[in-house]
Amino acid sequence: MAIRNILKKGDETLRKRSRDVGEITVKIITLLDDMAETMASANGVGLAAPQVGLLRRIAIIDIGDGVIDLINPVLIEQEGVQTEAEGCLSIPGIQGIVERPTRVVVEALDRHGKLQRIEGEELIARALCHEIDHLDGILFEDKVIRYVDPAELEDPEEV
Ligand code: CO
Repeated sequence: MAIRNILKKGDETLRKRSRDVGEITVKIITLLDDMAETMASANGVGLAAPQVGLLRRIAIIDIGDGVIDLINPVLIEQEGVQTEAEGCLSIPGIQGIVERPTRVVVEALDRHGKLQRIEGEELIARALCHEIDHLDGILFEDKVIRYVDPAELEDPEEV
């Protein structure tokens, strides 16, 4: 495995739409493993492929229960509204309040090509929405209601 460079705000790759994954090749598996290592080393709870320079619909999340691979993720259900602070590994050191659904259901392929259904509330719902936004070239700053001082947050999360 290898740590990849995380692109920062200003890189135009972050603003492009990612393409669906067809066949899950060895290259894709290596990418998922590298993304997991990269996310862990940056203390993130999520990471999307465009953040490491690949415009493919791939993301991972880990809110502390292990890494979940998401290939071609689609938001199929959402309900409620939460307004919590979030940050992004591509915009380090900045936290802002973003409106997200409280609960979501996402369907995605795992690394074996099996369709999985991920249901989550609160942080996991926020992370899933944030990552899917990355696949459409959307950054959390596009949706920020107001910025907050990270020093005032108990546990600032970057995704
Ligand atoms: Co992000």
